Amino acid sequence: MTIEASLRLFLGASSLLFLLGSVRGSNGSLPLILWHGMGDNCCNPLSMGAIKKMIEEEVSGIYVLSLMVGKSPIQDTENGFFMDVNEQVSFVCHQLSQDPKLKGGYNAMGFSQGGQFLRAVAQRCPNPPMKNLISIGGQHQGVYGLPRCPGESSHICDWIRKKLNTEAYSDFVQKHLVQAQYWHDPLNDDLYKKHSLFLADINQERGVNETYKKNLMSLEKFVMVKFLQDSVVDPVVSEWFGYLKPGQAKETETLQESALYKEDRLGLAEMDKAGKLVFLATEGDHLQFSREWFNAKILPYIR
Ligand SMILES: *[C@@H]1O[C@H](CO)[C@@H](O)[C@H](O)[C@H]1NC(C)=O
Ligand SMILES: *[C@@H]1O[C@H](CO)[C@@H](O)[C@H](O)[C@H]1NC(C)=O
Repeated sequence: MTIEASLRLFLGASSLLFLLGSVRGSNGSLPLILWHGMGDNCCNPLSMGAIKKMIEEEVSGIYVLSLMVGKSPIQDTENGFFMDVNEQVSFVCHQLSQDPKLKGGYNAMGFSQGGQFLRAVAQRCPNPPMKNLISIGGQHQGVYGLPRCPGESSHICDWIRKKLNTEAYSDFVQKHLVQAQYWHDPLNDDLYKKHSLFLADINQERGVNETYKKNLMSLEKFVMVKFLQDSVVDPVVSEWFGYLKPGQAKETETLQESALYKEDRLGLAEMDKAGKLVFLATEGDHLQFSREWFNAKILPYIR
């Protein structure tokens, strides 16, 4: 079976994550950290394991670390549903700071929710420095809906969906349900801003933390990949940092049209002007891409 076929097979049933770190590979490439998506873990041979292997084949000598949050791959998968995201980010920051191979900096690639989690790492943990951040189907303005859950997790998703629709912003659900921490209800903007423990914080909804801004702006490139036939993320424009216009749930706005950008609370407008933001789109459903596409569009940022 080809890697793409295996990926599709797996991705139909789940999503991805990775992490990496070390000194430069034989081609001078920086270490690469991967963070998987919901329902996935660090090491599944059909998902992150395959991606890690593929990158190692393409970039000779590269050090790739696929992040495991917890003590085992199974715990890592569970934590992707139930562990406080702020704690996950701290866990990862600590791990990165302890890895001598990352001292000279690293690139980071997040899959689905791993994309926004790694952005939090960039904003909160400048040491060691992240150089390029590549978000593959990440939801930088969150989601308002969970239309489809990756494969085998579907029973968990039915339960999660119910919780999100009724009590996403209760303290208990915020603390214990990962997806609630990037649940962004445009009809209840005040609740979101006030009670979202993770996303509203990293998106500077409760005030501007200059440190977040400075750290994000020190990225060399922030690459965002959107899947044109995405049936998992709602709204899909969140993968490019756009969202639903506040107060309604139909019309969307681009990042450039948003208050976040116009007020430049995160430095994204400045980064955009400096050519640091890269918006990529690809055919396919959530996290489905070919090796050919990956090699042509993504590898240049990690070589
Ligand atoms: C370095 O990268 C180039 C371009 O991808 C590749 O063709 C070459 O084999 C690599 N060389 C080494 C030593 O990794
Ligand atoms: C801003 O973010 C930094 C990095 O996470 C944190 O240490 C600091 O406490 C934050 N400042 C405020 C005012 O929240």
